[in-house]
Amino acid sequence: MALVEFAHLNGITATRMLKRKEQKSLGQFMTPPDAARYMAKRCLPSERLPIVRILDPAAGCGILTAAVVECLLNQTGLPEQIHVMLYEVDERLIPTLRKLAERIRRSARKQGVTVKISIRNCDFLLSPVATMRQPIADIIIANPPYFKLNATDPRALAHAYAVYGQPNIYGLFMAVCAGLLAPSGRWCFITPRSWTNGLYFAAMRRHLFCWLHIDAIHIFESRRDHFTNAEILQEAMITWATAQAQPNAEVIVSSSEGSHDLAQSRLLRLPLNQVIGQDDEQMIALPVDTSILGSAQWNAVLSTYGLKVSTGPVVAFRARQHILKAASTNSVPLLWMQHINHMRISWPINKKREHISSNGETAWMLVPNKNLVVMRRFSPKEDSRRITAAPYLAGTLPATALGLENHTNYIYRPGGELSDEEAKGLAAFLNSHIVDKYFQTSAGNTQVNATDLRKLPLPPLDLLVDIGRAVPVGASLAVIDSVVDSILDARQLQCTATAN
Ligand SMILES: C[S@@+](CC[C@H](N)C(=O)[O-])C[C@H]1O[C@@H](n2cnc3c(N)ncnc32)[C@H](O)[C@@H]1O
Repeated sequence: MALVEFAHLNGITATRMLKRKEQKSLGQFMTPPDAARYMAKRCLPSERLPIVRILDPAAGCGILTAAVVECLLNQTGLPEQIHVMLYEVDERLIPTLRKLAERIRRSARKQGVTVKISIRNCDFLLSPVATMRQPIADIIIANPPYFKLNATDPRALAHAYAVYGQPNIYGLFMAVCAGLLAPSGRWCFITPRSWTNGLYFAAMRRHLFCWLHIDAIHIFESRRDHFTNAEILQEAMITWATAQAQPNAEVIVSSSEGSHDLAQSRLLRLPLNQVIGQDDEQMIALPVDTSILGSAQWNAVLSTYGLKVSTGPVVAFRARQHILKAASTNSVPLLWMQHINHMRISWPINKKREHISSNGETAWMLVPNKNLVVMRRFSPKEDSRRITAAPYLAGTLPATALGLENHTNYIYRPGGELSDEEAKGLAAFLNSHIVDKYFQTSAGNTQVNATDLRKLPLPPLDLLVDIGRAVPVGASLAVIDSVVDSILDARQLQCTATAN
C-alpha cells in the first residue's frame, strides 16, 4: 500500500475514537489523499538537495508528510537523506504517527534513502523551534487547526508580530512557518480563505510576504467537498510559496469544486500585482471563475450607475437609548439584518427592538424613505447564498425615514432615486447564483463588505432594469436564477449573433 493510503487508513481509525466536540476544539479535520498529493507535488525543492528537511507542524496522522516523502521517493535524483519533524499536540495520535514513521523508513530504505523522523508531542506554536525562528526546513507542509484564539492566549502573545485583533490559530501557524524556511525552501498550507482579506489578518499577511513569495493558489469552490467526512463549511484554499526567492511575475491560480475533481482543475496565470494588493494591507484578490463574470466582460460597477453602497449607520450599542421595543409617536422602523430575506423585507417580526426614535440626535443616522437595495452584511454559514438582498420600495413602511442597523448594507443613488425596476433588478442580480459564485471565489469569508460590493462587475443597466421588471418582490431563489440567467443569456446570444 502506498504511504499516503497507509496514513489515510490509519487516520480514519484514529479519528474514529475522537469525539466530535474534541475534534472541533483541536481542529482535527484530516486532509483527504487526493488533496495531500496535490499539495505535495508542488512542494519539492527546485534543485536536488542531498538532505531534505521536512516540517509538518500540525501532523495529525501524518498524511501530508507521507505525500511529500512519496513524491521525493518517486522523483529522479533521490536525496541521500530525508529528515522529518512532526509536531502533534494530541497524544492519542502519536502511536499512529510512530506507525507511519516506521513505514516511511522501510519504504525509503528500499531505495537507499535514510530517513530520520522526530515526533514531538507538544504545542508547536510554543515550541522552541517556533519561538526561536531559525531556518530549519526545506519543505513545510501543513493543514493547521482552525479556530479563534483569545488575544491573551500564550500562543497569540508569543507571536504578537502576526496578530491584530482576535487571531485565528491557523494564521499563527502560517506566519510562524514562513520564518522557518531555508532560502528557496517551499511552504504549502491548506487553510480557510479568510486570511486573504480582512483587517484581522493584515499583520499576518505583511509578515508572510516579508518572508515568502506566492507561487500558486488553489481554490476549492464548494463549501463542503474538500474534506471527506468533515462538515467544514468554510471554503478552503491551498497556497504554495517559496522563501526569500525573487518574486514571480505571475501567480498560478487553479480551482476545482472539491478534492474529487482536482485532476480537472481550471488554471489561470495572473500578474502578481493583480493578485496581491500593493498597499499596506496586502489583501489577496482571488479571481473570479472566468466562466462566470469574465466571459460577460462587464466593466460597470455601482459607481458607473451613480450608485453608492454604505453600511447601516445605526450602531445599536451607541444608539441604545433611542432604540425602542414598541412604536411611539416619533419613532420610525429600524431594520436589522433579520428583517432582510432574499427579495423581501419582513418588518415587523416581533423579535427585536424594531423601532428607533426620530429626533434631533438620531436624524443623522436615519435614511430617507426612498427606493433602496438593502442587504445583510453577514451570511450564516448554513445559508445557501453569500448575499441576502431585498429591494425596499419607497413608502412600503409608513414613515418619513428608516433606521438601518449596522449589520446591513444599503445601495442608493445620492442626489437622485433608484427606480423600482432598478432596485428590484439589482436586488435580484445580487441574490443570483452568478454573484454567489463570484463572492465564493473572490471573497474570503462569510462577510460581504461594502468594498467588495463596490468592485463587483455589473451587467448593463438596461439588463438590470429588465430583470427588475420580470422578477416579482418576494421571488424564490429558483425564480430569481431563472430570470437572471434567461435575460443575461439572451443578451449574450445577441452579442454573439452580432459578432458573427
Ligand atoms: C486540521 S488537522 C490536520 C492533520 C493533518 N496534518 C492532515 O492534514 O490530515 C490539525 C492537527 O493539528 C493538531 N494540533 C492542533 N493544535 C496544535 C498545536 N498547537 N500544535 C501542534 N498540533 C496541533 C490537531 O490535533 C490536528 O491533529
